[in-house]
Amino acid sequence: MNTSVLTKVPHRWRYIGFVTFACVLVYTTFHYMQVPAGKMDYVLERTGVPADRILFFDESNEQISNRIHGIDNFESNLPRIQFDFSEESENSKHVRETRRDAIKSSFLHGWNGYKKYALGADELKPLTNTSSNPFGGLGATMIDSLSTILVMGLDDELEELLPLIENIKVKVDEQMSVFETIIRYMGGLLSAYELSDHPGKRVLLDKAEEIGLALLPAFDTTYGLPHYHFNPFTRVSKTNTTYLADAGTIQLEFFTLSYHTGNLIFAEKAQAITDFLDSADESQGVTVPGLYPYAIDISEGEFNKDSSVSFGAMGDSAYEYFLKQYILVDGRIPQFARMCTYNLKELHTCFAPGMLAMGAKIFNRPDDMQVAKGLLDTCVHMYRSSYTNLSPELWGVADEVEAYDPLTYEQIDDDLTAARSWRLWGTGYLNPTESAETRVLKDVETTPSGVIAYDTRYLLRPETVESLYILYRITGDPVYREYGWVIYEGLEKHCRTSSAYASIKNVNTDGTESGQNQIDSMETFLFAETFKYLYLLFSPPEVVSLDKFVLNTEAHPLLRRPWTLNLKNNNKP
Ligand SMILES: *[C@@H]1O[C@H](CO)[C@@H](O)[C@H](O)[C@H]1NC(C)=O
Ligand SMILES: *[C@@H]1O[C@H](CO)[C@@H](O)[C@H](O)[C@H]1NC(C)=O
Repeated sequence: MNTSVLTKVPHRWRYIGFVTFACVLVYTTFHYMQVPAGKMDYVLERTGVPADRILFFDESNEQISNRIHGIDNFESNLPRIQFDFSEESENSKHVRETRRDAIKSSFLHGWNGYKKYALGADELKPLTNTSSNPFGGLGATMIDSLSTILVMGLDDELEELLPLIENIKVKVDEQMSVFETIIRYMGGLLSAYELSDHPGKRVLLDKAEEIGLALLPAFDTTYGLPHYHFNPFTRVSKTNTTYLADAGTIQLEFFTLSYHTGNLIFAEKAQAITDFLDSADESQGVTVPGLYPYAIDISEGEFNKDSSVSFGAMGDSAYEYFLKQYILVDGRIPQFARMCTYNLKELHTCFAPGMLAMGAKIFNRPDDMQVAKGLLDTCVHMYRSSYTNLSPELWGVADEVEAYDPLTYEQIDDDLTAARSWRLWGTGYLNPTESAETRVLKDVETTPSGVIAYDTRYLLRPETVESLYILYRITGDPVYREYGWVIYEGLEKHCRTSSAYASIKNVNTDGTESGQNQIDSMETFLFAETFKYLYLLFSPPEVVSLDKFVLNTEAHPLLRRPWTLNLKNNNKP
């Protein structure tokens, strides 16, 4: 890795904190009308709305499940993202398939534990075999697992779940995170609807729409910016502060929901937010166009000037979605491309390499690809240099370490052992009253490797394996598969329990009996994301091709299609 690249790599890091969100009950009826055979477009008709408001790509004669394997007619107008892979050797195919099958069995181990002890609840507690409901109790693990089930070809599992899904009550009487509800539940349902050939799959779309309608009142604010938390039953929210990630990470789901239901209200709500961000200026607290402070007062329509411009917790996935919306509609809405501005110094999380690398291909920015590779090496280093081969939840690299030198694949075990001299902040949790950044700056000089772990837990997070999947598909470099396998082995060795998988207290502890180092918690993204990305890393490259799909921020694949909505501003160049 060359040093000029490394100097661009930011020296301080923060892991992600996914956050939150949320409209007017307008209900309209639509129907699709097919244009004469031979033409590629459908036209949507709706009373009072110009017939050309949604333009569709014709997919009527295709078996959707074939699309997972790239067997379809879709050819993108955008530059190709994936590497031009040549045929694999028998030997590498054998290794790849063995690994892929192992990952699938691991998924099934956790999934069967959830089904046995927690089916219908949000999460299984993997040590006590009990359940918990942090997401309103709609069955978050079940819904978040659907697209992985279909990608892995476990269609019979879906069959069993459809009646349960049909019975979910969405209007729960509690404050729900609008963002989490949309990315996990709505995203999971829409993706499964797109990926399944099941004749009863309409249930999935109907439930996604029901959730959308229940959340619409949360968007009924002066600027259309959704509430962060919202009670769909009482329609009350307790705060007027929201975060960039919460407002800016619903667009893929709302656009897709409008596409399938023909109900444009969702896309309109999503677009209003995009337009708000697009036009925000200095008077609203945006000093550099395109770079937003992370906190927003939704009643004033202003950014909180004390909140920094952040690609870390609370901000990052909005930038991810500017790019992904553009890809979703296959480049037909130029506004989304224009909004893809990044501050490379502020890229904090380990999904960023994947985002940068995809943007590098779409917009032909080779420098971003180099940065992406450097960032990803650093993220992987955090896994490979720990005793468990799992990365801490929050960590930093000292400002004082001028050119931080991530260990690379070639390095041998001794080097990795030497790199284990992290400064630890005890076992467990970050003290929320002290910012991570302050801690790094205060106590850094005694850390030989320059690495500080200020939250030593591993929560089964996917960001690094997400970037590995994307970088592998883009570069074809087998090193990314090897990295992924090391991470999988760490997860299997340290997180597995008798019924599922558990989070870890301290990733850098040697010799701890695995049970003692485990936490009784299994987040849904293990199923939605971590196992899916690992599985895809060891699948043939045409499976969930980046040239056919775009994955939402919870790793639910959505079909790319050249389509557009003639909403207010979105064709502005
Ligand atoms: C949890 O379930 C597994 C698998 O069924 C079982 O082996 C284990 O003993 C159970 N643990 C507890 C605490 O009940
Ligand atoms: C949010 O803003 C609205 C409109 O300004 C106001 O009526 C409401 O009381 C505010 N809510 C909170 C929790 O501050």
